[in-house]
Amino acid sequence: MQNLNSESLFERSKKIVPGGVHSPVRSFKGMDQAPIFFKKAEGAYLTSVEGKSYVDFCQSFGPLILGHRDPEVQEAVLEMIDTAWTFGACEPYSLELAEWISEELPWMEKLRFVSSGTEAVMSALRVARAATGRSKILKFDGCYHGHVDSLLVQAGSGLAGEASSSSAGVPAETAQQTLVIPLDSEEKLESVFAREGSQIAAVIIEPLPANYGLLEQRKEFLQKVCAVAKKHGTLVIFDEVISGFRVALGGMVEVTGLIPDLVTYGKIIGGGFPVGCYGGRKDLMDLVAPLGPVYQAGTLSANPVGMRAGLVTLKKMKRENGWVKLHERTQAFSLALQKGFAKNSLDLQVENFASLFWIHNSAGAKIRTVEKIPTNQAPSFKKLFLKGLKNGIYLAPNAYEVGFVSLAHSAEILAESAQKIIEAACE
Ligand SMILES: Cc1ncc(COP(=O)(O)O)c(C=O)c1O
Repeated sequence: MQNLNSESLFERSKKIVPGGVHSPVRSFKGMDQAPIFFKKAEGAYLTSVEGKSYVDFCQSFGPLILGHRDPEVQEAVLEMIDTAWTFGACEPYSLELAEWISEELPWMEKLRFVSSGTEAVMSALRVARAATGRSKILKFDGCYHGHVDSLLVQAGSGLAGEASSSSAGVPAETAQQTLVIPLDSEEKLESVFAREGSQIAAVIIEPLPANYGLLEQRKEFLQKVCAVAKKHGTLVIFDEVISGFRVALGGMVEVTGLIPDLVTYGKIIGGGFPVGCYGGRKDLMDLVAPLGPVYQAGTLSANPVGMRAGLVTLKKMKRENGWVKLHERTQAFSLALQKGFAKNSLDLQVENFASLFWIHNSAGAKIRTVEKIPTNQAPSFKKLFLKGLKNGIYLAPNAYEVGFVSLAHSAEILAESAQKIIEAACE
């Protein structure tokens, strides 16, 4: 690790890895600088290979709600590794996590662990299609559900709801099975169901859309989604890969009181290891193999290291009243930013929900749809991001990604960081 620098590592990486990265958002695309290579992480901090320290507001895009290398999680992981790190057979570790989740989240009558959020979503869609005998899926513009073929789609230019693939390699026939409508529009929702309701197996939504900015939805809209779907025999899938165990123990299901048919989780549920989960109504989950006809499997599914990390993370959050603390700290942090931006007459706003935040530059009403995001969001964020880096602040390297606060971000760290972000914005 001696004498390494991010630029030369990125050059080396680009020779053997597409774009030099293993997931596109890590690439600092549009930032006019090589991504920082990190060698170490602890609590709220990341250390680059050059030895510079940053307050990390990305936290691996959400899984690390306790921060990096939480000592309790670390102990559980080391203990597990000392015991075994995969069985490919039955073991009690996943059972413990499954039972804990099902007890805390009564709507998770039955569940299955997988290895990523994408897998969880893909599997939930398959169950919904099998249960309804229908093939179409309805999604909302601005919601991301992983890189499953049928959800890598964008609103088409033709009939409202029509979609085309947003990635090369997704067959047009697959994209045509997905309908896309804007968030926050009861009218579009009603009209797509009036036209195609009998063919829609499932409507999938991030109940707190947090992948294209932070687009908090009105509760009435979410209620309408559930009600219209029910009327048409369509299943509702809440994708809580980000919001699950983040905004509250019970995620947005707890916050809204709305119970979907199926829910997908990821990120926090594995405590920083690759874990996803889908589950919900028992009658639906009983369709999954080996009990039922829906095939879904995984060599490393319910990996015991992730199971232990996840359970210790969740238990610690509950014991420490972590969600309330996080909410309070993030709210104070967001307010400090907002005040600092206003005091310096800066054209920046902070959106905050629980321990998520997003900085944008629209002064108007709350942004609930993609088209309301200001067109200069990207250049404005780039400036803030690069100056923030100089000040030791690491925001997720993309204008549309939210910021994540962890329990390792103390009130002091947050107050200091707010000051540094305001200074960066003023430069
Ligand atoms: C809401 C949502 N669903 C699904 C996914 C995909 O999860 P993964 O990246 O673990 O495959 C993500 C990832 O960010 C997500 O935010």
